Amino acid sequence: MSYEQFFLELERESLKVVAALNKAETIRFISHLDADGLCSAAILAKLLLKYNRAFHLSIVKQLDSATIEALKKENYNTYLFTDIGSGQLSAIESLLEKGNVIVIDHHPPDKEVEHPNLVHINPHKYNIDGGSEISASTLSYFLTKLFGLPNSEHLAVIGTIGDTQEEEGQLAGINGIILKEKSANVEVRKGLRAFGRASKPIHKTLAYSTEHHIPGVSGDESSAIQFLSEIGLEIKNGDKFRSINDLSEEEEKKLITGIIMRRIDSTDNPEKIVGDSYIIKNQDGTLSDAHEFATLLNSCGRQATQSIGLMLCLGDKNAVKASNELIASYRRKITKALRWFDSKKDDPSVIVQTERAVYIKGKKEIDDTMIGTICSIKASSDDFKKDVIIGFADSDNGVKVSGRVASDFDFNMGEAIKLVSGRFNGEGGGHEKAAGGKIPFGSEDLFIAEFEKQLKI
Ligand code: C5P
Repeated sequence: MSYEQFFLELERESLKVVAALNKAETIRFISHLDADGLCSAAILAKLLLKYNRAFHLSIVKQLDSATIEALKKENYNTYLFTDIGSGQLSAIESLLEKGNVIVIDHHPPDKEVEHPNLVHINPHKYNIDGGSEISASTLSYFLTKLFGLPNSEHLAVIGTIGDTQEEEGQLAGINGIILKEKSANVEVRKGLRAFGRASKPIHKTLAYSTEHHIPGVSGDESSAIQFLSEIGLEIKNGDKFRSINDLSEEEEKKLITGIIMRRIDSTDNPEKIVGDSYIIKNQDGTLSDAHEFATLLNSCGRQATQSIGLMLCLGDKNAVKASNELIASYRRKITKALRWFDSKKDDPSVIVQTERAVYIKGKKEIDDTMIGTICSIKASSDDFKKDVIIGFADSDNGVKVSGRVASDFDFNMGEAIKLVSGRFNGEGGGHEKAAGGKIPFGSEDLFIAEFEKQLKI
């Protein structure tokens, strides 16, 4: 379906949303804990606040049958889900007897449900890929725009980036349309892809980049300073260290060329270090850069401090201070997990390598909320050159599984994890390139054996 037709469908669906919301007393609102979940929740929350509608919001890690059962016992007649729900429609069906259910999600639906009490808005219904063309935040943005809600473009961009929906360093599909909006409060700048480009001194950004390895610079601040002096870049402006965003276009080009020269022996495409960055207008530091903001939200979501993330999205400046410590501890957790990974790299009882895949058995060593992040980092690094990365980590009631497709291998990770987890009484799902699930304790090896069969089909 063309995007024009999709927008017409969205308009039609929006009338059903209004009808359902108008019948509600207090709306029971549930969203997902990652950056896309927090941003889509904030966009919808702004709408509900604008129209003075009472709501009770919870941010959840997953929507399993226990969570649905708990929701069912609560005393509400209207449920609103963002960035979660489409993959669990079979379970959500039981809520329909209580009243209206609105699902605004971009994950592939687990089944088709037609019911007068259900409003299900999902791009997959219109053959639009929710894994690369539209995030839950972009979907929420275009829906709320129909009600005249301004100033949420940055949230749509942040949610999309947090959901790793960039295609070759750019926003594509409906996600990209946001940037052309007249009201867009986001500016695009082509440059070095590096975490910290808005908030950190350049030498620190280069030394601690997990995005690119720079020989003779990575991991060593003083070598990074030396490198910057060799290529003729001032690291300070008066007393203040400069960030990459403080560089002129010419200076940034110089920096990129310097890094490419240092990485000349890398087999990676040199262009991989360059991409679009998104500068959020009228904001400073971390909150002015969509990539940093997305990492901050993921760090809030994955460290059980979702309310701070939500407050940041809603523009509450009081949350900024609390969030600085959060992002530092999130980076520490990532570094610790990557160090553990490096120490086990050659231990086949922990890191299992097959023809196409790498399996990371994190057990209790990696937090269940961090395993997805570690898989994403390994999928974009050139450590293994495999098509698929799968991670396992012990969680409360089973083993968390995370999967990423790391190449242009034509493989549907969401389908595969759902199928294989299902064989061991587990559950799972997600997108083509990134997905997750839960399996019983101790079943990692059985999962690997079954998953290998899927890779050979
Ligand atoms: O947890 P992780 O980061 O690995 O999840 C990757 C993607 O898979 C996310 O978009 C998540 O929402 C989705 N997922 C899912 N069903 C699950 C677990 C994860 O749809 N049971």
